[in-house]
Amino acid sequence: MKKIALTGIKPTGNPHIGNYLGAIKPALKLSETCEARYFIADYHALNACKDPIELRKMTLEIAAAWLACGLDPKKTLFYRQSDVPETFELLTILMAFTPKGLMNRAHAYKAMVQNNLEASKDPDDGVNMGLYTYPILMAADILLFDTDLVPVGTDQFQHIEMAQDIAQSFNYVYKTQAFKIPQPIAAEESKTIVGLDGRKMSKSYNNTIPMFCTEKELKKVVMSIVTNSQTVEEPKDPDSSNIFALYKNFATPEQIENLRARYRKGGLGWGQAKKELFELINAEFTPIREKYNDLIKDQNQIWNTLKEGSEKASKLASEKIKFLRNIIGID
Ligand code: TRP
Repeated sequence: MKKIALTGIKPTGNPHIGNYLGAIKPALKLSETCEARYFIADYHALNACKDPIELRKMTLEIAAAWLACGLDPKKTLFYRQSDVPETFELLTILMAFTPKGLMNRAHAYKAMVQNNLEASKDPDDGVNMGLYTYPILMAADILLFDTDLVPVGTDQFQHIEMAQDIAQSFNYVYKTQAFKIPQPIAAEESKTIVGLDGRKMSKSYNNTIPMFCTEKELKKVVMSIVTNSQTVEEPKDPDSSNIFALYKNFATPEQIENLRARYRKGGLGWGQAKKELFELINAEFTPIREKYNDLIKDQNQIWNTLKEGSEKASKLASEKIKFLRNIIGID
């Protein structure tokens, strides 16, 4: 039996190549060997985004991005969290099995409290309950679908461990194996994608290379990668170069070795190295960009794809909820 892989995709505007290499590509690869269930986590996004037009737009764009990158909705169950209301019933059930103290320990929440304290504000300033209980909603997403594997960035590992705790506590109370215990798996790449300035590529550092922009814009961004001031002639260290670090994600092993040798030899200018990186990224993204632009033109088709997936997902979910309601004594 194939393992069940599930992940939630938070709608964001302007996905970048850090998302592509660290999340999209590895999840699509995993979907070749697993039964994959990937969904747009729009209710998770509501905590931060209160603009209805923006939320709708981001949902559409992120769905188009994954489809353009090759997600095949015939093989992968692709749906919208908000279209599977069973998620929110399970959330209510799981609330009763989640100690408040567990939520107090969540990194994201703790970081907000810390920032508030440093700014001499109330510790819970700006913290809504959706944010506070975010890990329980994630647990509901995961446990509802009998998930074995959860491909996520390492920043999400704590949340998956919380889902394990919550599942175990439910199983223990009712002496059942009602919930499978999910395992997080990280893509090797998700830790190592560097941004334009050499820090981890992240929107919050403003150092990203967008996935969807024109060729001209892409070139401009790649040319703005930060380098040191070595001259063309000087031999260069590939392993401390942001350009080389990015290049490795798009090149064949031969191309990587070839560029490595040219760095060491000297005579390769930063401008040239950037140009070669641009060529590779552009070659990979040209078909993806075209597909994305086509998809975005026909928004109804994207909504329909999500609707179809959601109907299938909801069917699976309602069986699980029926089973759980019986266990807890509601039915
Ligand atoms: N919290 C995840 C993120 O920020 C998104 C997410 C929501 C998720 N529900 C999930 C990931 C369930 C894995 C499983 O990226």
